[in-house]
Amino acid sequence: MRIAVAGSGYVGLVTGVCLAELGYQVICIDVNADKIKMLQSGRSPIYEPGLEPLLQRNVISERLHFTTNPEYAYTNADIIFIAVGTPELKDGATNLKYVEAVSKTIAEFIKDDVIVCTKSTVPVGTNDKIKEIINNLKPQELHVEVVSNPEFLREGSALIDFFHGDRIVIGSNNHQAATLIEQIYLPLNIPIMKTDIKSAEMIKYASNAFLATKISFINEIATLCERVGANIEEVANGIGKDHRIGPYFLQAGIGYGGSCFPKDTKALVQLAGNVQHPFELLKAVIEVNKLQQSIPVVKAKQLLGSLKGKSVAVLGLAFKPNTDDIREAASLVIIQELLAEGAEIAAYDPVAVPNAARVLEKGVTFTKNIKSALYGADIAIIATEWEEIKSLPLDVYSTYMNTPIIVDGRNCYSLEDVRDHPITYVSVGRPAIIKEQSKILIH
Ligand SMILES: NC(=O)c1ccc[n+]([C@@H]2O[C@H](COP(=O)([O-])OP(=O)(O)OC[C@H]3O[C@@H](n4cnc5c(N)ncnc54)[C@H](O)[C@@H]3O)[C@@H](O)[C@H]2O)c1
Repeated sequence: MRIAVAGSGYVGLVTGVCLAELGYQVICIDVNADKIKMLQSGRSPIYEPGLEPLLQRNVISERLHFTTNPEYAYTNADIIFIAVGTPELKDGATNLKYVEAVSKTIAEFIKDDVIVCTKSTVPVGTNDKIKEIINNLKPQELHVEVVSNPEFLREGSALIDFFHGDRIVIGSNNHQAATLIEQIYLPLNIPIMKTDIKSAEMIKYASNAFLATKISFINEIATLCERVGANIEEVANGIGKDHRIGPYFLQAGIGYGGSCFPKDTKALVQLAGNVQHPFELLKAVIEVNKLQQSIPVVKAKQLLGSLKGKSVAVLGLAFKPNTDDIREAASLVIIQELLAEGAEIAAYDPVAVPNAARVLEKGVTFTKNIKSALYGADIAIIATEWEEIKSLPLDVYSTYMNTPIIVDGRNCYSLEDVRDHPITYVSVGRPAIIKEQSKILIH
């Protein structure tokens, strides 16, 4: 079985590498020549734990190839996975230009019957559109089936998710095509659910919308906890023990980010609007998340008064730990707002600095380690719960900072530990710890 994967980003690259690891012949194609050059030399353009060694092993064993040449990738493929980006348009709808472009290229270069399997997250009805585009342009004698196979991997644990995912969803209106895609995944021993195309497309959006809802819900409860003097960790623990609710995705913080939840929630609101159903619940989820990302700056201002000329250390830039992805990261919102307040910013992240430096305007100093970011700072804001940040001894803050004040957006430290240190500590949904030594003005 010869497999082509279109798009070598977070999803396409992981898919290609892991399918090669399963023993398939895989050609990954991308329009970005720099990315392909890097991949051909065995280096990963993205930070994903465990990916690079697996990539190298499969390149050496000649099961995995990278190209920018559509003829080489598509001509002899039995199955073509589409994993190109589906970013949002200004109005929140999904931008399908990459999906449409790749569909046209596939139609142009195939020389045999083929199954096109869509991993990109696409609105309901898109797979029918892909089929239509390909059928209009392909040689008439060829038969093309389109299957929806939404991707559920999480950046930072993408390999674990590929090999040990909760489920694989295969949406098809053709039994034979669905069975062939099923066979590819059988060695993984992951529950496979076969359904119709539209339901498969909707499962992906509904999953992300539900998870985003859980996050915004727990964040709203966290705000209430702060106001009434309860502790969100106790509350989340208490509600999570109910099997109907479950303990997962109940960590309060400064909101969701990344390349999926923000755009997929907006796309579902758009999709609902297109069928005359205003999705009020999801609109509120999105609004709550937007406010949540600004909370560290609001808290910093409450603690310090004006932030003008204040030195702020921002710890963590990636939208979550174990990735270099900064798309829609809370850190970016925080930094923009701090800059608008006239603060001076020193920011640290173990891997995401190059990506952040590309999108952030001047005014941010990126440091090579946490201590340099904290040195002389008036306040530290924790934006990403990297292990390196969570395990940083609290002494370091009091030693290096001008005033040891932490606004922890990810609840990295236990309140018991903080109480033993001369540190003012404000987290999410938990009682604030205000220390005399900080000599601060609380408004
Ligand atoms: N990143 C995630 O965690 C994740 C998880 C689940 C689903 N998804 C979905 O998967 C899709 C891909 O996401 P991603 O994060 O991997 O995106 P990405 O931006 O990292 O990668 C997309 C790649 O596609 C390439 N590309 C664009 N047009 C192309 C073409 N015509 N032919 C070949 N390559 C082309 C781009 O150059 C880029 O390298 C999106 O629809 C996303 O919503 C992403």
